[in-house]
Amino acid sequence: MLLLDNVTAGYGDTTVLRNVSLRVPAGATVALLGPNGAGKTTLLRVASGLLKPWTGRLLIDGADVTAASPHALVGHGVCHVPEGRGVFPSLTVRENLLLQVSAREADSIGRAVDAFPILGERMSQVAGTLSGGQQQMLALARAYLSNPSVILLDEVSMGLAPKIVDEIFEFLGRLSEAGAALLLVEQYVTRALAVADYVYMLNKGQVTFCGEPGELNDDDVFASYLSHAV
Ligand SMILES: Nc1ncnc2c1ncn2[C@@H]1O[C@H](COP(=O)(O)OP(=O)(O)O)[C@@H](O)[C@H]1O
Ligand SMILES: [Mg+2]
Repeated sequence: MLLLDNVTAGYGDTTVLRNVSLRVPAGATVALLGPNGAGKTTLLRVASGLLKPWTGRLLIDGADVTAASPHALVGHGVCHVPEGRGVFPSLTVRENLLLQVSAREADSIGRAVDAFPILGERMSQVAGTLSGGQQQMLALARAYLSNPSVILLDEVSMGLAPKIVDEIFEFLGRLSEAGAALLLVEQYVTRALAVADYVYMLNKGQVTFCGEPGELNDDDVFASYLSHAV
C-alpha cells in the first residue's frame, strides 16, 4: 500500500500540494482527477520520490520512505509512467525493454511482446519514430516488465486515438488483474471512473473528494472542473 500522509509540497516558493492525504491500497485502482494545474503531476512526483514533500510523509507498506531516492522507491515496487512519452526516443524498442530487465531475464521481453504484439514487429525501430500510441504502449510494456506493485500513470491516453485508448485501458485492466495497484491520472473521466475502486478529486492542490466512484455525482465532477475554468 502506498500512502501520502498530509503532504505539502511545491517548487521554489510556490506551494502546489496542501495537506494532501491519499491512499492506494494494494492491488486497487485509484483515479486521481482534477482540472489542469490542480497538482496531479506534482502528486505523482511526490509518490515516486522525484519531489520531496516539505511536510508530511510518504509510506509504502507502512515503511516511511519520505527521504528515499526515486531509485530506492523503484526497489519498493513503485513505477512511474510520466507525462508525455516515458521512453528513450533514440534507443530501439528492444533497447528500451532491455534497460528494464536484468540480462538473466532477457527472455521476459517476450512477455511485453505478448502484451503488445505491435512491439514485436518494431523491435529494431528507434522508439522516437513510433506513433504516439506505440510509444505509450512501449512505456507501459517497460512498466510491466519491472513487475511493479504500484504503477503511477500520468495521462497515458493523452492525445491518442480512441481505439488506441481502448487498447491501453484493456492493458491497464490486465496489469490490475495481475495484482498491481494503479494510481491513474486521466483526462477521460468516465473511463477512469469505470475502472477505479476509489477516486480522489484534486483542486488547487487540495483533495476536494475522496471515496468510491458511486458516491461521486456528476455535479461534483463538473463543479470541480468549472470552478477552475473561470
Ligand atoms: N517544475 C515546476 N516549477 C514551478 N512550478 C511548477 C512546476 N511544475 C508544475 N508547476 C506548477 O504547479 C502547479 C500544478 O502543476 P501540475 O502538478 O503539473 O498540475 P496538473 O498535473 O494537475 O495539471 C501549476 O500551477 C504549475 O504551474
Ligand atoms: Mg499533469
